[in-house]
Amino acid sequence: MYTWFLSNGRGFPTTMNQEKWTLVDEYFNGHLVQHDASHLAALDACHEAGLPAIQVAPNQGKLLQLLAMTQGARNILEIGTLGGYSTIWLAGALPSTGRLITLEFDPRHAEVAAANIERAGFGALVEVIVGRAADSLPKIAAMGLEPFDLVFIDADKASNPIYFEWALKLTKQGSLIIVDNVVRNGSVANPETTDPDDLGVRRFAEMAAAEPRVTGTVIQTVGSKGYDGLAILRVQ
Ligand code: SAH
Ligand code: DHB
Ligand code: MG
Repeated sequence: MYTWFLSNGRGFPTTMNQEKWTLVDEYFNGHLVQHDASHLAALDACHEAGLPAIQVAPNQGKLLQLLAMTQGARNILEIGTLGGYSTIWLAGALPSTGRLITLEFDPRHAEVAAANIERAGFGALVEVIVGRAADSLPKIAAMGLEPFDLVFIDADKASNPIYFEWALKLTKQGSLIIVDNVVRNGSVANPETTDPDDLGVRRFAEMAAAEPRVTGTVIQTVGSKGYDGLAILRVQ
């Protein structure tokens, strides 16, 4: 049943429909996703700096912003900043008294992100903390901040179980926990996968299933970023 996964390692023949998915994204993004100058400038700066182009797609960034707005989020935690593209989408949902903390391991990524965030006008709301997220999270917990209304987990997927545990500690009833890249071309559903990122996602899914404090779902996505998916959970 799962042999097709094994034929080429990462599995699903996404290239088959990639062009169509990208055209459809571009069609709707042209109508609905208001990519302002700061989003475009951030993407340009990431490209210039040679960062990997693995940021959320524009319509996914907009989804994050919509969820944060619907949530009335005042405090947001992001794990995995890259060049700050998703950060800028999320920060756009915050009131002027809001706060976003974003965690990034790579100092070069953090530097590009800080400049992008500043240019987008969110310098006062956003704090980029450099270091391994697993080291930064206990420090954030020790700061005694208000619980986060939304946590976006988007760093090294192998550590998702650790990040999920911290997200539970740092949120409250009604908070959202969103996890990016939980489908990864479908390889996650291969029970024989040995990929550490797949294993991190699978362990996270098992933990979420066994955790009475959350209820959630996973939506598979196709589009300009290929075939992937998002987990969206609400803290009960
Ligand atoms: N959220 C970003 C994309 C993040 S890509 C966006 O959509 O715009 C994943 C990021 O996580 C990379 O910048 C990578 O350097 C960072 N990362 C990887 N391992 C990490 C770790 N252990 N702690 C913190 N950040 C990490
Ligand atoms: C990749 C994509 C992501 O969205 C991410 O956060 C990390 C890695 C990737 O395609 O490799
Ligand atoms: Mg991601």
